[in-house]
Amino acid sequence: MDNIYRPMLMTIENAIEEAPLTRTFKLRFQKDEEREAFFAKYRAGQFAEYSAFGTGESVFCVASPPTRREYVECTFRKVGRVTSAFYEMEPGQTMGFRGPYGNSFPIESWKGKSVVIVAGGIGLAPMRCLLWNVLDLRKDFADVTLIYGARTVADLVYKRELEEWRGRNDMNVVLTVDPGGETPDWTGRSGFVPTVVGEAKPSAENCVAIVCGPPIMIKFTLPVLEKIGFQKDNIFTTLENRMKCGLGKCGRCNVGKHYVCKDGPVFTIAQLGSMPDEY
Ligand SMILES: Cc1cc2nc3c(=O)[nH]c(=O)nc-3n(C[C@H](O)[C@H](O)[C@H](O)COP(=O)(O)OP(=O)(O)OC[C@H]3O[C@@H](n4cnc5c(N)ncnc54)[C@H](O)[C@@H]3O)c2cc1C
Ligand code: FES
Repeated sequence: MDNIYRPMLMTIENAIEEAPLTRTFKLRFQKDEEREAFFAKYRAGQFAEYSAFGTGESVFCVASPPTRREYVECTFRKVGRVTSAFYEMEPGQTMGFRGPYGNSFPIESWKGKSVVIVAGGIGLAPMRCLLWNVLDLRKDFADVTLIYGARTVADLVYKRELEEWRGRNDMNVVLTVDPGGETPDWTGRSGFVPTVVGEAKPSAENCVAIVCGPPIMIKFTLPVLEKIGFQKDNIFTTLENRMKCGLGKCGRCNVGKHYVCKDGPVFTIAQLGSMPDEY
């Protein structure tokens, strides 16, 4: 029987410095059949286990969309043992990868609707996957809006793509940094994400909202969205509870009877409301 924990081998094709201690790897599958098997299953919102051999595994979202089927990208912040090992790695080296795991955003059911994405800090990583997926199928959706903030200009990730998205005439982009985080040439807003969402006031009419970022940002953004008119079952988020196996085997990620690694990581706010307060 095949070992479900056996990682696929990936070559780091390039590494981009996004923000302090935050890096994006572009990874190529070393075996074509594994790439095909991955993309046959992969949907936006799913995550994977990435391994540094001899050190361990870490869970990251897949930051590239399923509409781009040659490679996968991940963006990680150096916070501990495994991410420090990744931070030392260079293009050309091999790392491990297993997935995709978890549920995904129900993009099919959003066709014809507007999509508002609200992200903070490195929370743009799973939203980037979703946004490119939506943009690659642009005619299937009505208005597309991104509201993204970080503490400072230096902390904004995907800076080149932010410029590209700002230059498009088929989406709205609102960028903000916390007061005091501006640079002299900053042309975005200055203010915390929940405040900026309230000011931008995207229409809730036939629209879904997806929120991802630090828990404090999510906590204060949800009431703003609800005040604008978004229903709890039209607001989605993705949880980052601590995980180990990623497969529903170890019990590390449980919230009540739910396994975040299998039932999530994507939940509506209505679903979270019916779960114990542990998330
Ligand atoms: C579904 C999912 C998607 C994720 N996507 C990303 C991503 O795209 N990019 C990214 O950088 N990270 C992401 N994470 C978080 C990432 O898995 C953790 O930061 C990971 O533990 C880092 O591994 P490490 O060995 O370097 O850190 P560790 O040595 O395990 O821990 C370092 C520090 O971070 C704390 N910590 C570890 N995990 C968590 C957690 N889940 N919540 C709060 N504190 C924690 C530890 O207590 C410790 O203080 C995701 C997590 C989940 C569950
Ligand atoms: S991470 Fe092991 S059961 Fe969810």
